[in-house]
Amino acid sequence: MSAPILVAYATRYGSTAEVAQFIASTLESRGISTLCQPAREVKSLQGIQAVVLGAPLFMFHWHKDALRFLDRFRADLQSIPTAAFALGPTTEPRSEKEWTDARAILAHTPRHVARDWSKLLESAVANAENNHELVGDELHIVTVKADEGPTLKRFQPRAMGRATKIRKRTSHLTITLGPKE
Ligand SMILES: Cc1cc2nc3c(=O)[nH]c(=O)nc-3n(C[C@H](O)[C@H](O)[C@H](O)COP(=O)(O)O)c2cc1C
Repeated sequence: MSAPILVAYATRYGSTAEVAQFIASTLESRGISTLCQPAREVKSLQGIQAVVLGAPLFMFHWHKDALRFLDRFRADLQSIPTAAFALGPTTEPRSEKEWTDARAILAHTPRHVARDWSKLLESAVANAENNHELVGDELHIVTVKADEGPTLKRFQPRAMGRATKIRKRTSHLTITLGPKE
């Protein structure tokens, strides 16, 4: 039997695990031997033919288990074909935990942008309650995305009358809430 392909995943709410299992069963159905495991449980890459690594994005960052996996196996991965995938927002209703977690995560994220996300989230909940007669506790997050906004062009004065261009980038943040099914 040929060496297996490892499908390793990081997950918080389970959707990346589902995608990883789907990839693994598709490969198996084509006669390719496959191992599907949480990234943090992988002990060694010995005898592995190729790696597929998947993880969700949280606040623009890959789940830490995937980053740790890359760190731990950096040397082995130089010589093993590797594919990666990232999961963003899904339109399927997520677990109840996700919604209640979002506030807590944002409140404890030291990044500056977390304040903007928090304000947007609170405002989206207030709109849902006041304008659409929905109950705050019964909402879940449908989508979260950050798109590129306009870039403001500024100049920094330099020596000898020169100037350096400064690009002040901005983002459009979007949160869509919906009632629980
Ligand atoms: C607090 C929070 C932050 C998130 N940040 C991002 C993000 O920056 N980019 C993105 O594409 N998706 C983001 N998402 C969506 C998650 O990546 C998405 O729900 C993913 O399917 C979760 O995967 P899991 O079920 O395997 O944990 C965020 C979700 C939450 C709750």
